Amino acid sequence: MAEEAAARDGTPVRSRLLGENLVVFRDSQGRLGVLGEHCLHRGASLAFGRNEECGLRCLYHGWKFDVEGVVVDMPSETPGAAARLGKKTKSYPVREGGGFLWIWMGPRGEMREFEAPAWAPTRETRISIVKMHAACNWAQVLEGSIDSAHSSSLHSTNMPSAEVDGAKATGSAWLRPSVDKAPRLQFEPTSYGFRYAAIRKPIRNPETDQYIRTTLFIAPFTVLIPPNDRYNLAQMLIPIDDVNTMFYWVAWHPDPKKGIPQEEWRRFCAASVGVDLDENYRKKRNLENRYLQDREAMARGDWTGIQGIPTQDMAMWESMGPITDRSRDSPGASDLAVAQFRRMMLAAAKKFQEGAPAIGTAEPRIPHVKLASFEGIVPKTTDWRTLGAAQEEPVS
Ligand code: FES
Ligand SMILES: [Fe+2]
Repeated sequence: MAEEAAARDGTPVRSRLLGENLVVFRDSQGRLGVLGEHCLHRGASLAFGRNEECGLRCLYHGWKFDVEGVVVDMPSETPGAAARLGKKTKSYPVREGGGFLWIWMGPRGEMREFEAPAWAPTRETRISIVKMHAACNWAQVLEGSIDSAHSSSLHSTNMPSAEVDGAKATGSAWLRPSVDKAPRLQFEPTSYGFRYAAIRKPIRNPETDQYIRTTLFIAPFTVLIPPNDRYNLAQMLIPIDDVNTMFYWVAWHPDPKKGIPQEEWRRFCAASVGVDLDENYRKKRNLENRYLQDREAMARGDWTGIQGIPTQDMAMWESMGPITDRSRDSPGASDLAVAQFRRMMLAAAKKFQEGAPAIGTAEPRIPHVKLASFEGIVPKTTDWRTLGAAQEEPVS
């Protein structure tokens, strides 16, 4: 998150993406740098380095690197050694947008123009972010985000049924106008990934109306989940390595006076740093302590006995094991989107290996800020594919 690089008074921030250890820092001129964490000399971590005049200096022998990874000083060597070295440490181009820092990890020559994420349609948009570490494989987490059916069970205490017009956010719950636990799923592949609708019977007028929740998968790591009456919702799932994932849950509203303030959003999710999470966003409720599950609360009617919607999800994802064997699954009709996701990603990986563009990058592309999920009660005659669809989307 951008706030991490900004807040710590020049302290370099450690990060790990796709199995690579990185260090993020803002230099004395305010420029952002993202370097390989380990010093080019003999591998000490630059995260402990001194953030000096226009560069990061390794504590061990004092080699200094600028934001581009160029060695600008080597005090342990003879004068002029830095210039003679002719070598750079690993560095990645970085951009800031939508509350995050973004790096391009592909070949430099193929770098695309930076595009704002779906939750940053304007600079004024209010963006609140929950960040939480998940100790399991990325696909386990992503499949949770595109699985609309589980919300009627796993999150039933936090998302109770009520006679409301649509999903309504209160200080402690999201009310839902349906008691239907077995949604019918309909799926549509798109240029950016896919979207699908979970169609449920509403409490009011079930003969004429339907309750629709649409979810969009923007390949390869963003999911737009159905909004409520106060804010829009996106999840961004980032592989740290094969058995660790960083989970981000973004609540946003284009009107900065609306939406939900950052600290309130973190409290709602039981994901406040220092209370529910340590300073590395690791959960105080975790697999080792059974997520502090309260069986007495369950006896009183709480479905999970686990506090916080994302921690309830984490308990399911992490309890599958670090990388679960999917050949043992017994999928049902409500797993349609999950099955399609697996097929789509395997096919995309294969095509990419054969030289095709990465999934979601082929032209023509729809700007991500024009994509939106939908939630609401509509007449049965309404085609869900038109709900929240961007003008640029072909109507099928
Ligand atoms: S290991 Fe960094 S300067 Fe020697
Ligand atoms: Fe969930």
